[in-house]
Amino acid sequence: MTLSALQQPLFPDIDPDPVPASTTTFVDNMKLPVHRWFRFSAGFSAQWAEDTIAGLGAKTVLDPFAGSGTMLLAAERRGASSYGIEAHSFVARIAAAKLQHRADPDAFLETASAIRGEARALPASVDGYPPLIRKCFNDSALRSLDSLRQAWMRHADDSPASQLTWLALVGILRQVSHVGTAPWQYVLPQKRKRSPVEAFAAFDRMVRAVAADMRTSRDVSGPRPTLIRGDARTCEGVPDVAVDAVITSPPYPNNYDYADATRLEMCFMGEIAGWGDLHETVRKYLITSCSQHWSERTLDIETALARPELNPVRAEVTQVCNELGRVRMDKGGRKNYHLMIASYFADIGQVWHALRRVCRSGSQVCFVIGDSAPYGVYVPVVEWTSALAEAAGFHALRFEKTRDRNTKWKNRKHRVPLCEGRLWVSG
Ligand SMILES: C[S@@+](CC[C@H](N)C(=O)[O-])C[C@H]1O[C@@H](n2cnc3c(N)ncnc32)[C@H](O)[C@@H]1O
Repeated sequence: MTLSALQQPLFPDIDPDPVPASTTTFVDNMKLPVHRWFRFSAGFSAQWAEDTIAGLGAKTVLDPFAGSGTMLLAAERRGASSYGIEAHSFVARIAAAKLQHRADPDAFLETASAIRGEARALPASVDGYPPLIRKCFNDSALRSLDSLRQAWMRHADDSPASQLTWLALVGILRQVSHVGTAPWQYVLPQKRKRSPVEAFAAFDRMVRAVAADMRTSRDVSGPRPTLIRGDARTCEGVPDVAVDAVITSPPYPNNYDYADATRLEMCFMGEIAGWGDLHETVRKYLITSCSQHWSERTLDIETALARPELNPVRAEVTQVCNELGRVRMDKGGRKNYHLMIASYFADIGQVWHALRRVCRSGSQVCFVIGDSAPYGVYVPVVEWTSALAEAAGFHALRFEKTRDRNTKWKNRKHRVPLCEGRLWVSG
């Protein structure tokens, strides 16, 4: 497959670009029942997922990078069985809560109303919250949120109502904050928001939206999805030859830090004290897609490049990693992009082998992927991902470009054109 025509948009250290309104992204999901409960900007379009499942006539679908559960919800609506795997504990919990949308809305409302009532009566405190939380919320907002959190903890169990009220609480944090809490990734405490929403009002609104959506879910009758908190590199938990379609979007090797993306919420809920805890709680479980991803395996480039999964693309990967190793010496940050790229493709190679185990013969696979150019060094993600798929026993069919990237930022670090699209594979 030659991709020179597709080698377009940029590699950002941070992608500050609001996700454009397009049918390929999560933006439109914010108008859809259930999907709108948590803005997970890395997600793909639910409508596209539904159409794709229907178009393929898939009976059992897998999303090995399930994220907030978009594909699982789409499969459920289309009457297909589905498996999803998600390695990020917090993100998996969001998906799990959304998958409770067919539970009893009245039981949910009863719990939410009890939590609200108890929160009003509890002595709230701003003490003990990590610095990030103190920067993001003024004392009055934090007291309200703290009382809601304390009240929720009294109802914390595995019930759908408890999971859904947890989601209602974590889902309002960014609206309540008075600082820049961009939905895409990072929190910007220096930036002010014009109109933060009062915590109880935000909670009420969210609870009403969740209950209303739950009522519309009565029409959904597909098999209940199976969500596995696990690792796409093994697909453990998914039986052999169980699926006939894979629809997924893995992390791109573009330095987007999925662990950091939920730091605000995890700090608020007391799951971590700050950035320093992200590696142990989240990052070490994820495939390597950012330079902060520090693991035993990525300590030196020789070890990273020696991984057997890289066999099909080792020469090309080595060339690019060597260049990245050289370029970083002239950069202040000296980021480990060379390690990130080597580890990323070895991880993706593992994913393809795991997919080979769980896919029936003749399965259809769609990877939504994007290429990248760390420090301006182009990484042909689509070509290498295709080669790794072929080495695992699939046939790369085609790549459909859906959008260009790196076309509009003013202070871009480089001008390598990049793109995003869908890699179709079968086998
Ligand atoms: C692009 S997002 C998927 C978004 C999803 N399509 C949605 O609509 O919500 C990629 C996801 O892969 C997850 N991930 C990273 N490494 C993983 C691994 N080894 N196994 C499973 N999931 C992983 C990330 O935490 C992230 O949620």
